[in-house]
Amino acid sequence: MKHLCKLLDWSGEDILDVLDLADQLKYEKKHGIPHERLKGKTLAMIFQKASTRTRVSFETGIYQLGGLGLVMNGGETQLGRGEPIQDTARVLSRYVDGIMIRTFRQQDVEDLAKYGSVPVINALTDDYHPCQVLADLMTIREHKGALKGLKLCYIGDGNNMANSLIVGGLKVGMKVAVATPAGYKPKAEVLKFAAGYGESFCLTEDRFEAAKDADVVITDVWASMGQEGEAARRKADFAGWQVNKELLSKAKPGAMVQHCLPAHRGEEICGEVLEAHAGEIFDEAENRLHAQKAVLVRLMEQK
Ligand code: CP
Ligand code: NVA
Repeated sequence: MKHLCKLLDWSGEDILDVLDLADQLKYEKKHGIPHERLKGKTLAMIFQKASTRTRVSFETGIYQLGGLGLVMNGGETQLGRGEPIQDTARVLSRYVDGIMIRTFRQQDVEDLAKYGSVPVINALTDDYHPCQVLADLMTIREHKGALKGLKLCYIGDGNNMANSLIVGGLKVGMKVAVATPAGYKPKAEVLKFAAGYGESFCLTEDRFEAAKDADVVITDVWASMGQEGEAARRKADFAGWQVNKELLSKAKPGAMVQHCLPAHRGEEICGEVLEAHAGEIFDEAENRLHAQKAVLVRLMEQK
């Protein structure tokens, strides 16, 4: 694989290979074993939306690998003044060894990859959040010992997280059940992909049915970045869709809870559930670092 634009482009083997490398890099970091596998390489990091985890985990990740991260805030670059992505791709490719981008349109990520000549990593678009899902899968495997055959349940908005979880979960052999309110379904191309997995995939408007016997329950905000103007309407439409003790009682005993963060306590997740599962949720946040280092190594080493 050359880029990480979306998990649809990767095979299950590609995903598992990166998860294995992520486990190894985590071990090496924890044991002080040097792993400067990208010495002298540079990563441009374009942010057209806010970030805490992605920014810090990519910047420290490339540094730990011996390279340098260059943060480019959209508004402070010529992209923010309308310079086309095709030109930005070709210019940056002359300077850096990889480009990470967080933006609105998925097409901008695909265009960066098409017109540039270095690996491109999607660090969240309106449609997908593949880096987060690699960290989620890594965390689930760490806690449960395996992925294949486990039931992953996602409750909430059919957003970038839902889309990437469906693709990532199914590709590594999990059963995936998604519950969204009517009108908030995942992307059509994702549902088309999932239709090929038969009974391993289920989409419903019944959140209790989706959560039944789940090994891991995942949720995300009701209004994503860029949807701030819809927040009030969404809050009304998602009333009752909270991941709380009642919902979790349908899942398997000992089920994990994951949340990509930032979380809105009292909305998509209750504070009690978040705190009861804080160990798993902050492991998930930590694993952004290790999973993304593995992505950087796989895409940028020897390039
Ligand atoms: N989960 C996630 O991507 O967090 P940030 O928005 O803080 O980067
Ligand atoms: N769905 C959320 C994820 C944030 C990490 C958003 O796009 O804002």
